[in-house]
Amino acid sequence: MSVSLRPWAYEDIFKIAELEKQCFRDPWNFRMLADAFFSENTLTVAAEEEGALVGYAFAVLAGEEADVANVAVAESCRRRGIASALLSALEEGARARGVRDLFLEVRVSNAPAMALYLRRGYCGAYARKRYYGDGEDALVMRKKL
Ligand SMILES: CC(C)(COP(=O)(O)OP(=O)(O)OC[C@H]1O[C@@H](n2cnc3c(N)ncnc32)[C@H](O)[C@@H]1OP(=O)(O)O)[C@@H](O)C(=O)NCCC(=O)NCCS
Repeated sequence: MSVSLRPWAYEDIFKIAELEKQCFRDPWNFRMLADAFFSENTLTVAAEEEGALVGYAFAVLAGEEADVANVAVAESCRRRGIASALLSALEEGARARGVRDLFLEVRVSNAPAMALYLRRGYCGAYARKRYYGDGEDALVMRKKL
């Protein structure tokens, strides 16, 4: 079975909002995702398998910098390289839009995500104390494109 990547379609936002709730303690809701979708400064990638959305990623562009807002893959589809492929597509899209530095925030307890980002060449830059609503710190990671 092969996974294909493409930009988000409006209809994807319902499923993405659902996956956000399943994957995150502080999920983006439908409205926030729709605002991001309609913004010219958002890069989006969806991973689809047999007509089902199995993962997604998006980044917010700001000149020569961009922030990877979120990456997530449905639990039953993990460890198959889908997040890596999503990040790769985002990085390629960002580079094409003139981005030189990609940043992201990750919960300090999120070992799988950190492993993924390190594997993809992101480096720890600095911590943001109590960045999340529940008081957890974020590690800011950076990749030069
Ligand atoms: C983090 C997440 C996106 C990874 O998705 P994925 O499709 O399983 O990742 P990949 O298969 O592309 O993994 C690539 C590499 O990352 C590392 N990695 C990914 N998940 C890992 C885990 N659970 N434990 C250790 N390393 C992991 C490995 O090096 C892996 O390569 P390998 O499978 O050859 O060992 C997924 O676990 C997820 O959706 N988590 C919940 C949402 C989340 O936390 N997103 C990140 C927000 S900052």
